[in-house]
Amino acid sequence: MKVAVIGATGMVGDVMLKVLAERNFPLTELLLVASERSVGKKMTFQGKEHTVIGLADAVAARPNIAIFSAGGDTSLEWAPKFAEVGTTVVDNSSAWRMDPTKKLVVPEINAHELTAEDKIIANPNCSTIQLVMALYPLHKKYKMKRVVVSTYQSVSGTGVKAVQQLENEIAGVQGEMAYPYPIGRNALPHCDVFMENGYTKEEMKLAREPQKILDDRTFSISATAVRIPTAGGHSESVNVEFENDFELNEVRRLLNEMPGVTVQDNPDTNTYPMPIYAHDKDEVFVGRLRRDETQRNTLNMWIVADNLRKGAATNAVQISEYLVEKGLV
Ligand SMILES: NC(=O)c1ccc[n+]([C@@H]2O[C@H](COP(=O)([O-])OP(=O)(O)OC[C@H]3O[C@@H](n4cnc5c(N)ncnc54)[C@H](OP(=O)(O)O)[C@@H]3O)[C@@H](O)[C@H]2O)c1
Repeated sequence: MKVAVIGATGMVGDVMLKVLAERNFPLTELLLVASERSVGKKMTFQGKEHTVIGLADAVAARPNIAIFSAGGDTSLEWAPKFAEVGTTVVDNSSAWRMDPTKKLVVPEINAHELTAEDKIIANPNCSTIQLVMALYPLHKKYKMKRVVVSTYQSVSGTGVKAVQQLENEIAGVQGEMAYPYPIGRNALPHCDVFMENGYTKEEMKLAREPQKILDDRTFSISATAVRIPTAGGHSESVNVEFENDFELNEVRRLLNEMPGVTVQDNPDTNTYPMPIYAHDKDEVFVGRLRRDETQRNTLNMWIVADNLRKGAATNAVQISEYLVEKGLV
């Protein structure tokens, strides 16, 4: 099992290598791939030194799986070249997510849709993954009508440059800006670029991707995405209206039974999910479960996950594990 990690020198790439090692992914050969800037650089994986190579050399090596975390443009240009030589691509960028010929996969929900013919598989947006992990078991039982979500997203979701901006601001050092404004002691209602309809691209990803993953266009999602000065972990305030009524105890049970979801919900002990405690964890944490007292069949909840783990690397590695287990690569 030859695996290429594209974007190995980046923030998601770094966590990807950690997750592959932790889960003992059954690889026999590892190719670490990045831009021309990093070619020749030495990196260590499971005690063994590797030299970073470029994309053309990686295609020539015909890996079984290539996990891409190197931006949309790199994926658009290079994923088809890998697919042509028989490699299965698992892509972390937004390049292929809404392409109707590509599957958008959260393994706990829809990995069963994958076949050996799927040569480019899309990993959903980080804030989408944690949202659908909590919505899925509830949708199956009560059928969602409408979701209103506001996100509180960490700077690690933007990449290395944004983490550096926050660190520079904390240290009082002038440096390159990843955002148009300071992020320390601030909240930017602006994740990704603005679109013609006034929403940001991140907000539209949250509105569209869950419908594709759950294969259901009958519910709607309205999103506001906000960047806050946390270093890692995205949080979401979520209001869900269902067609059918629910019992809070049953909601708690359904969430607890969902693989990969952990309920942390006890006001008496100040128990609720928080990004610093979700750091380096693979689970999606859900709490603050409350009935919306202003509207029928409506639930409020708070969802937190490590955006670099389940929001990116862990989900991509789980897809790769499924491909190996089912003999699809
Ligand atoms: N951060 C998150 O929470 C998150 C979550 C889900 C998905 N993603 C997606 O994952 C991708 C990477 O994000 P990140 O946060 O890890 O960014 P990052 O820290 O800036 O890392 C980018 C990586 O891509 C490589 N790269 C850039 N241009 C390249 C090119 N032309 N050819 C080959 N490699 C190239 C970089 O290599 P060099 O070091 O050589 O420049 C680096 O390894 C993005 O597509 C992002 O949308 C991020």
